[in-house]
Amino acid sequence: MPSTVLVGAQWGDEGKGKITDLIASKYDYVVRYQGGNNAGHTVVHGDKKLALHLMPSGVMYENAIPVIGNGVVVDPGVLVKEMAMLQAEGISCKNLKISCDAHVIMPWHKDLDGADEKSLGEHKIGTTKRGIGPCYQDKAARKGIRIQDLFDEKIFRLKVETALKQKNPVLSKIYGLHTYTVEEICEEYLPYARILKPYMAETAHMLNSALREGKSVLFEGAQGTLLDIDHGTYPYVTSSSCCAGGAATGSGVGPVNIDRVLGIEKAYVTRVGGGPFPTEQRFPEDGGVGEEAETGELLCSVGHEFGVTTGRKRRCGWFDAVIARYAAEVNGLTDVALTKLDVLSAFDTIKVCVAYECNGKRYDYFPMQQSVLFHAKPIYEELPGWKGEDITACKSFEELPENAQKYVEHLEEITGVKISIVAVGPDRDQTIMRGW
Ligand code: GDP
Ligand code: IMO
Ligand code: MG
Repeated sequence: MPSTVLVGAQWGDEGKGKITDLIASKYDYVVRYQGGNNAGHTVVHGDKKLALHLMPSGVMYENAIPVIGNGVVVDPGVLVKEMAMLQAEGISCKNLKISCDAHVIMPWHKDLDGADEKSLGEHKIGTTKRGIGPCYQDKAARKGIRIQDLFDEKIFRLKVETALKQKNPVLSKIYGLHTYTVEEICEEYLPYARILKPYMAETAHMLNSALREGKSVLFEGAQGTLLDIDHGTYPYVTSSSCCAGGAATGSGVGPVNIDRVLGIEKAYVTRVGGGPFPTEQRFPEDGGVGEEAETGELLCSVGHEFGVTTGRKRRCGWFDAVIARYAAEVNGLTDVALTKLDVLSAFDTIKVCVAYECNGKRYDYFPMQQSVLFHAKPIYEELPGWKGEDITACKSFEELPENAQKYVEHLEEITGVKISIVAVGPDRDQTIMRGW
């Protein structure tokens, strides 16, 4: 089995957890390479439904070794809780490997995330307030605390002391928040170190050795292409490299080792938090009326579009081929998995955005300037639906209603990437393989 990067091709929540879980058994390692517990990946198998934030979704299989790579930011309290939750479900975490170089989310990162957002007012990003941005800020500023620092109490104390000299005045004087002592941080974090120590590994070396032996690796992206710090809708993005390229830096594996890049795309689009979203069908509370509001509400209710991490209602809209083509380019997608096709069974006709219009100009390619994107009006095609036909039990492409087959084939045509997997329900079994 060749090594693969699995990447969100929209604004996150495309169904990465489900597809990772679906294909993970074929790989020797499943690696998270960026992000942190801002991610919420759902894995459903039979009557078991698990929400994972830090653990790679391949954890369900004993043969696939789950790895948290150097590019991830780790909140150790969250990881310890997640491991306990999995163990209580009968899922062993004994094979987990955590990179010594991954950065640690500290309590002040979470405080500052919330405070930053508050100070931005209506321009807020709508972050998950998990401390992701402030932790990556410290990493880039070369002031971060890494997993390896947790295991030497002397070094850890020194690093916390140095950090607090800067953080405490910012917390108290700029934001009016409480401050921390070295002692209370040690009291909270050192017990985590004792629990996590057995899982520490030099993950880059481990993965490279495995690849030399012919083993295969699945890199599980979090968030999505349009939330990538470089290629997303900046500044309404997360603080890491979610795109396929991030798999190399976030795990310490050379890009030549990556054979396939599987983009996950919902059959429509959702977004959580602020920022431009051209095909959005606004909810009434966001100013949507008539057909727009009805479409948004229907996508949200039928698709159960509520955040796994924060419980927020996800903004919903029609499939956008402009961002799909952009994602194909910036990730080098070789294949696409199209998820939630079953949700579209609720509609008489289905719209697909093929290009944008702004100031009288047509954009077939993702516009470079945010000001254009903010004002982009989607140019839609309208396709006939398969309303009322339950497709959740379809096991082959041929079993799908003709219009559903045509919808999938049309998306392939206008996005230029083969759709190798079609998901028709949340369960592992509710999936149609088309050459993956
Ligand atoms: P991720 O963050 O990309 O892993 O996606 P989330 O787990 O946040 O959100 C995707 C949601 O859709 C989850 O609740 C999944 O169980 C569910 N899901 C995934 N694929 C399908 C599908 O084909 N049909 C339906 N109805 N639900 C799906
Ligand atoms: P998964 O992996 C959807 C969004 C937040 C916010 C922006 C920045 O489940 O697809 P952050 O807390 O990262 O600084 O927030 O990114 N965001 C996500 N949206 N799915 C996610 O993860 C997300 N992780 C972050 O809503 O707009
Ligand atoms: Mg999610």
